[in-house]
Amino acid sequence: MLKKILVTALLFVSPLLLAQNEPAKTEAKPHGYVGAEMCGMCHKTEKQGKQLSIWQESKHAQAYKTLLTDEANKIAKEKGFTTPAAKTPECLKCHVTAYGVDASLLGPKFNMEDGVQCESCHGAGADYKMLSIMKDKEKAIANGLQIHTDLKTFCATCHNSQSPTYKEGWDAEASFQKIKHDIPKGN
Ligand code: HEC
Ligand code: HEC
Ligand code: HEC
Ligand code: HEC
Repeated sequence: MLKKILVTALLFVSPLLLAQNEPAKTEAKPHGYVGAEMCGMCHKTEKQGKQLSIWQESKHAQAYKTLLTDEANKIAKEKGFTTPAAKTPECLKCHVTAYGVDASLLGPKFNMEDGVQCESCHGAGADYKMLSIMKDKEKAIANGLQIHTDLKTFCATCHNSQSPTYKEGWDAEASFQKIKHDIPKGN
């Protein structure tokens, strides 16, 4: 009798033990970066709102090239860095997308020299860039898309006094007017 109870007890307990021994659910793998050109495939026509060309004409697309200038090297030197600006992590971290990210997360079309790209602001896109997901805002967000509405806080992640050329009183809302790239209404 006792043996039977023990066996029954074990039958009940063992699945629980097994469940407990399972490795804790692993952290979701970080999303990969695809690069602005890839986003631009679907975000470039007049009808879509020309996000690609609006970005290409913005300073953000030049942010890496800026680091190649004499002015940038001068700033880096004054700050005490011994490397050229474009090789200085403390400059690159704000002037390019995905700086310091594991290389395995960078897609074949991703190019650091494209500066501050779509994914600096909208999140790494490898898992949301598919049409079936992009069409559904909630699904896109669940797969890494970021929508920022508090511009003051968000833009200040780079536009702040750690930038050697920062001007006190920089206005995020007003500055957004210079780079905004809406989807036309009724689309
Ligand atoms: C295969 C085509 C395709 C690709 C590639 C793509 N998108 Fe989209 N995206 C869409 C469509 C379609 C919508 C929905 C448009 C609408 O609501 O009118 C959308 C919507 C968006 C929105 C608006 C979300 C909202 O509802 O507010 C953002 C932001 C966005 N995409 C960013 C990106 C970024 C960044 C990339 C690259 C990582 C990217 N997209 C790649 C097709 C695409
Ligand atoms: C990942 C860092 C980063 C983020 C986030 C960022 N920026 Fe920038 N931004 C830069 C860099 C770097 C430059 C300088 C580019 C250059 O001149 O080479 C710049 C330049 C600009 C410029 C042109 C210079 C000026 O001040 O008029 C505007 C406008 C601008 N950003 C607006 C914004 C807005 C609005 C946001 C938030 C929605 C934002 N940025 C978020 C890094 C960033
Ligand atoms: C905290 C983020 C951040 C860091 C770190 C940073 N930058 Fe910038 N950089 C910006 C932003 C944002 C802008 C555009 C607005 C501004 O001047 O603050 C910019 C603009 C510039 C400009 C253009 C200024 C102009 O008037 O057109 C140069 C040159 C520059 N940065 C060089 C550097 C160098 C060199 C370093 C490293 C020593 C560096 N930045 C580090 C964010 C940063
Ligand atoms: C400096 C940050 C920044 C960069 C770079 C940037 N965006 Fe945005 N984008 C925003 C912000 C802020 C909004 C408005 C809030 C939102 O919908 O996320 C926005 C809105 C959008 C929207 C939705 C517009 C609407 O009407 O709902 C699309 C689509 C989009 N971005 C695509 C792109 C693509 C594609 C790129 C690159 C070619 C890009 N963005 C680059 C910050 C950025």
